[in-house]
Amino acid sequence: MKMKQIRQNLAIIGVGKMGNTLIDSLLRNKVVKPNQIYGTTSREDTASQVKEKYHINAGLDNQEAVSRSDIIILAVKPQMIAQVLVEIVPALNDNKFVISIAAAISTSFIEGKLNKNISVIRAMPNIASLVNEGMTVLCPGKFVQEEHLEIALEIFGSVGEVEIIQREELMDVVTALSGSGPAYSYMMIESLTDGGVRMGLPRELARKLAAQSVLGGAKMVLQTGLHPALLKDEVTTPAGVTIDGLMELEDGGFRVALIKAIDRATQKSKQISK
Ligand SMILES: NC(=O)c1ccc[n+]([C@@H]2O[C@H](COP(=O)([O-])OP(=O)(O)OC[C@H]3O[C@@H](n4cnc5c(N)ncnc54)[C@H](OP(=O)(O)O)[C@@H]3O)[C@@H](O)[C@H]2O)c1
Repeated sequence: MKMKQIRQNLAIIGVGKMGNTLIDSLLRNKVVKPNQIYGTTSREDTASQVKEKYHINAGLDNQEAVSRSDIIILAVKPQMIAQVLVEIVPALNDNKFVISIAAAISTSFIEGKLNKNISVIRAMPNIASLVNEGMTVLCPGKFVQEEHLEIALEIFGSVGEVEIIQREELMDVVTALSGSGPAYSYMMIESLTDGGVRMGLPRELARKLAAQSVLGGAKMVLQTGLHPALLKDEVTTPAGVTIDGLMELEDGGFRVALIKAIDRATQKSKQISK
């Protein structure tokens, strides 16, 4: 993946799992240089660790990070967002813009707290960004300009695929589907592995076969553009092995369980958003 270099400085407020993932990928893909990043955390030892690991600027002072940056990425837990916004407001102006990756926090909530015409983009990445196979959905707030969206596309495009949606109410579904999606695939891989072990395969081998099959199936869907049902039909021989496996999945309510998982997780995201 060839990414364009960004010349602006980036503040990453909250260098936890997602903050680290972004820093790692942005540097690995040469989207920014280490001296363009200022990361913050709430602990001195974490700040020292990321400084040493990535050679970026890092510290505990969110205002300092914001005043030295053009793009502010909010990567703290949702419950910390309001407090962080109050802290950084004095250091923000119209030349800077904010990208929030916090689940269930709306652009209007952030715009309201900032009380300035600052561009706010809501992003929902997922943890697979760590291996450059992330899926991020961006949703622009009221004051976003095209150039800001383009920069956000560069940033999240460095860690995987990116889509833009305008209807922010759909971000709850996005959170339930691609935000939580890696967890569902972990559970599927774990269960397929157990099935292989039950039938006599060594665990390591079973895990590899399960994970690679899920990866391969996903690539087939994305690269051929064919409907998954058609791809399934193509590998299902009459009176063969696969149809028996599929019959068990139908019997266990596999499809309905997944549909209901997205329904339930979306409701939870909506509830947290309120
Ligand atoms: N993990 C995912 O798969 C995922 C996917 C999509 C979106 N998100 C969103 O990403 C955000 C971060 O999630 P995460 O999983 O990366 O959480 P995390 O690992 O707990 O990271 C949060 C970081 O924020 C730091 N922090 C806490 N208070 C702070 C403050 N006042 N100022 C600056 N930094 C502060 C913490 O530092 P200390 O550890 O030093 O306290 C920690 O490093 C969340 O809003 C979440 O909804 C996560």
